[in-house]
Amino acid sequence: MLTQIEQQLCDTAMSVRLNAYAPYSNFKVGAAILDNFDNIHLGTNVENASYPQGTCAEAGAISMMIASGGTKIKIIAVSGAGEHLCTPCGGCRQRIREFADLKTNILICTDLEFRKRFTLEALMPESFGPNNLA
Ligand code: THU
Repeated sequence: MLTQIEQQLCDTAMSVRLNAYAPYSNFKVGAAILDNFDNIHLGTNVENASYPQGTCAEAGAISMMIASGGTKIKIIAVSGAGEHLCTPCGGCRQRIREFADLKTNILICTDLEFRKRFTLEALMPESFGPNNLA
């Protein structure tokens, strides 16, 4: 079901999730990106007492990728607990869109295991992206 690197990304997202700072929602999220240099970047949600200032796990992982010199998302894994799939929020789909192809795989995990594979296109049909401004 998963390649070795995909399983590694899922394991990484699930373990970094434990470090999330989510004292207000108590909903921890972890993300792991494989970039175009085959480096892995991590992120968690980081909440704030001023609620709107909180940031998502995917945003953190993208920030780490850019700061490290990566320019493309090859695969991204996201981990969140619960029966409902922890798919990226609307804002994060747009953030991923900036650095991924429509065929890029988004791997959704619970806190314990891989659950489901999506392409970016499936989560975000007819999306607006960099090409619109080219
Ligand atoms: N959250 C993420 O980190 N990523 C998502 O794609 C969905 C939501 C976080 C934001 C907030 O800290 C918590 O989950 C509950 O919404």
